[in-house]
Amino acid sequence: MDLLNKIKEGAKKHSKRIVLPEGTEERTIKAADEILEEGLAQVILIGEKSEIMKLAADFGLKNIKKATIVDPATCEKKEKYAEIMVEMRKHKGMTMDKAMHLLNDPLFLATLMIKAGDADGEVAGAANATGDVLRPAFQYVKTLPGISVVSGAFLMILPDKKFGDDGLMVFADCAVHPNPTDSELAEIAVATAKTTKAIAQMEPRVAMLSFSTMGSANHEMVEKVRNATKIAKEMAPEFKIDGEMQADAAIIEAIGSKKAPNSEIAGKANVLVFPDLNTGNIAYKLVQRMAGAEAVGPVLQGMAAPINDLSRGCSVSDIVNLVAITANQCAGL
Ligand code: ACO
Repeated sequence: MDLLNKIKEGAKKHSKRIVLPEGTEERTIKAADEILEEGLAQVILIGEKSEIMKLAADFGLKNIKKATIVDPATCEKKEKYAEIMVEMRKHKGMTMDKAMHLLNDPLFLATLMIKAGDADGEVAGAANATGDVLRPAFQYVKTLPGISVVSGAFLMILPDKKFGDDGLMVFADCAVHPNPTDSELAEIAVATAKTTKAIAQMEPRVAMLSFSTMGSANHEMVEKVRNATKIAKEMAPEFKIDGEMQADAAIIEAIGSKKAPNSEIAGKANVLVFPDLNTGNIAYKLVQRMAGAEAVGPVLQGMAAPINDLSRGCSVSDIVNLVAITANQCAGL
């Protein structure tokens, strides 16, 4: 069974409540129909009920009647959610009036449903920019204990099976944190190793990437990756993490063995951790477009509850896949 099918089978077992705040967006409602048809999750759509049902009829969707629909204009729990918002952010000037107003925004409403325990996970971003999806999540769901940064990993399914584990690799951070410090980069590496084990279902071999391999160059940018590698190894000795190393040394055995002969990872990496968001985002898009990789994600890691952000260019199957991944994250796999 391929990875995506394994992930879908896992999702079916757990029947988690996934909220899709962009309930009137065409690809989202089509994905919701497919998710309900396949039994991947319980779906909560946010939007006006009559509009959602009309779209479902227009698109010939048969399963939307099984979804729970929450309309921000009539949602009975808004006041309870507003109280949570005030409690959490009164020091930042949050008032009941401001909170009630913000809850008309489906992205805030979805986040508060999770915070209040009325949903298990969220997938959004088909119609909204990353920052708009993430900000409410950062403010109200927050990070896991002991984690200070959220980051985004992609499962890269490569046509060339010689890379990673039979063509499967994990790249991070490609989506969230623009310029991590050394300790933040270490956290990202450890979080990515955990995602690799839990979602990509393989034993992580993590390469901390740079333009230098094991001291071949010296610069403060290299120093950051070197420090991050040391911190990550101390944080999670159970994982194989090594660096700093160049991309070719990480993934090509003949080069890894020459440039980093003492490394267990060089030439065999199945996880690439990039030094900043410029490199991570550019690299995953180039590999996707030029090498024909399927890029599944971003899978957000480090958040206290699974909230995942789509690219606005996503397809219906991207949404279905990310909901299945989110359901697995909810189950703590
Ligand atoms: N992890 C956890 N919390 C965070 C993070 C993070 N990575 N970044 C910010 N926060 C928190 C802050 O601590 C702050 O909390 P507070 O209000 O309780 O004090 C809150 O979030 C807002 O922080 P700001 O610094 O004001 O963050 P801002 O909203 O300006 O930016 C954002 C956050 C939007 C995620 C920003 O880092 C960003 O734009 N990142 C790039 C996203 C992007 O464009 N990615 C590429 C496209 S995605 C793709 O191609 C798949």
